[in-house]
Amino acid sequence: MVKRWVMAFPTHRPRRLRTTPELRALVRETTVSPGDLVYPMFFHAGLSEPRPIASMPGVSQLPISHAKKWAKDLRARGIPGVILFGLPEKKDAEGRVGLDPNGPVPRAVREMKEACPELLVMTDVCVDEYTDHGHCGVLRDTPHGKEVDNDATIAILAEMSVVHAKAGADVVAPSDMMDGRVAKIRQALDSEGFSSTALLSYSVKYASAFYGPFRDAADCAPQFGDRAGYQMDPGNAREALREAALDEEEGADMLMVKPALPYLDVLRDVRKSTALPIAAYNVSGEYSMLHAAAERGMIDLDRATMEVLTSIKRAGADFILTYHALRAAEILQGK
Ligand code: PBG
Repeated sequence: MVKRWVMAFPTHRPRRLRTTPELRALVRETTVSPGDLVYPMFFHAGLSEPRPIASMPGVSQLPISHAKKWAKDLRARGIPGVILFGLPEKKDAEGRVGLDPNGPVPRAVREMKEACPELLVMTDVCVDEYTDHGHCGVLRDTPHGKEVDNDATIAILAEMSVVHAKAGADVVAPSDMMDGRVAKIRQALDSEGFSSTALLSYSVKYASAFYGPFRDAADCAPQFGDRAGYQMDPGNAREALREAALDEEEGADMLMVKPALPYLDVLRDVRKSTALPIAAYNVSGEYSMLHAAAERGMIDLDRATMEVLTSIKRAGADFILTYHALRAAEILQGK
């Protein structure tokens, strides 16, 4: 029981450390800096001007011709890296257009690395941006309908990773959630001489409603069914540890939890279960909902942005993939 005198004359007063901004800064446990942020970008093979994405205020599909300018601009803002998504001019059933060394991602990688070699260029490795049906894998017919074929898909992902590595990607990031793809990709990279290309695995990726705006951005909404047959069930936390452990065993250099906000508990659990660096993906729906609320005068966008990013770091992320990166870097530089 709390002693009555403690209540009347508290000797320990946490508020003492909150009296000035300097003191608060001194005892702050978690800080965010531009160096913690990776900016996701969408390059479209068929554009000559940026095309704004209606459901993601401030984000556009970009022409490849803008890649160089962006690379320099991001470095100037103190943002260390990007993750690239590609939109081809034509899609096919197996996403093989994603293997074209002159596709939007390899081209944007080359341009960005040429303009700014120190910018970390990561690439999303998945077929959903390249398949005409929008699924993250190759389909096969089964007695109970169409199904994503795990092993046929990971063969294509391994090839795609090599194409991205050849273009100069520093990090490849498979986001498909097929089983065994980390080992397959690692093997392919090593055998092609890319043993120093790092692998960031989207290890713990949930079947989430928060990817809604991204599917506009990357034009990859599944044409039938959903992704629950390969992405994780939102009710599962222990399964996240199994996924993380498998990817670590298979040779992933870094693990990712995605989305971030509805899964901060999972992020914390994964943080405790591995010594590998962990990324969190603050996804499109998490970004757009702040903008939507702010547009309606419900919240202050800048404050909400920094609070969200701080919460993700506090939960255990070493770095954050976020569409807020540009504005966050400005806020942090007092602009
Ligand atoms: C799949 C992929 C998705 C995202 C990143 N990679 C979409 C999905 O799984 O449906 C979502 C990112 C976001 O919502 O910002 N290639």
